[in-house]
Amino acid sequence: MDYKAFVEKEIVSIREAVGDGLAINALSGGVDSSVVTVLGHRALGDRLKTVFIDNALMREGEPQRVVQAMADMCIHVEVVDAQKEFLRALAGLTDPEEKRNAITFTFYAKVFSELIRKSGAKYLLHGTILTDIEETVAGIKRQHNILAQLGIDPQKEYGYHVLEPLATLRKDGVREVARVLGLAPAIARRMPFPGPALAARIVGEVTEERLATVRAATAIVEEELAGTGVFQYLAVLLADKATGIRDGKREFGQIIVVRCVDSVDARLATVVELPWDKLRRLCARITAIPGVNRCLYDLTPKPPAAIEYV
Ligand code: XMP
Repeated sequence: MDYKAFVEKEIVSIREAVGDGLAINALSGGVDSSVVTVLGHRALGDRLKTVFIDNALMREGEPQRVVQAMADMCIHVEVVDAQKEFLRALAGLTDPEEKRNAITFTFYAKVFSELIRKSGAKYLLHGTILTDIEETVAGIKRQHNILAQLGIDPQKEYGYHVLEPLATLRKDGVREVARVLGLAPAIARRMPFPGPALAARIVGEVTEERLATVRAATAIVEEELAGTGVFQYLAVLLADKATGIRDGKREFGQIIVVRCVDSVDARLATVVELPWDKLRRLCARITAIPGVNRCLYDLTPKPPAAIEYV
């Protein structure tokens, strides 16, 4: 595929669709939304407003990192604090699909609708890729960013049109487009991170306290496994608890799972055989997080397991 021609064609399509109107896009910092942001700004310049929605589900330092990466490309990103809305919508939910639906609804129907209303934009530029559409339509997983393919008309329901310039590409294709657009390798090669963010890594209820636990474990896993060059590594907080001993006393504590997998496009994944020393170090650091007294390494390939837990 000629990715340079793809970029030129998509820039023209975005310009034609939006005309002299305004568009808006939400940047998460992942390769898909970063590519859409740069593509959109090439097409529309200042007529594209880019926002980073702080949904309380992000990793340590994520908003600052994402804003800086785009500032380095002279693109301004506005941070929107929507932490309370998302935490409120997730309170009490434990079912994976209900959690995903709550995130989708809060994102599109509440936070985004309001932003669109305020900005006067009529178009939402969106980083949906082919794999998201396929998995959702096949009923494997409701990806947070799928609307039209599930029969939801965003124009009718939420008052804006959705443009999906990457909908024919898979992750490897998006990385090629990132290269053509001159995105920094740190973004173009960034490890996948799911739209529902850390909520995809908490089995059971998502609370501020549980987010803090999985956020701390995620920072340790990402620090320890950076440089392995593998497809994806992550930490998951389970809903179960286990008995342990801390300071000479019995403790019924939290359980963190470490997952580290290789894959080409996330459809299949194999488990990486990490050195024992590395696993031992991960375990020691993770069980030093307050309330966590057990660390497990997941040996399951995809299939039968998915990469994420929710
Ligand atoms: P699973 O868990 O289905 O994940 O094996 C496959 C790949 O997709 C990522 N993932 C998501 N990405 N929105 C996204 O943008 C989502 O809702 C979502 N769920 C999973 C996951 O991290 C893995 O790379």
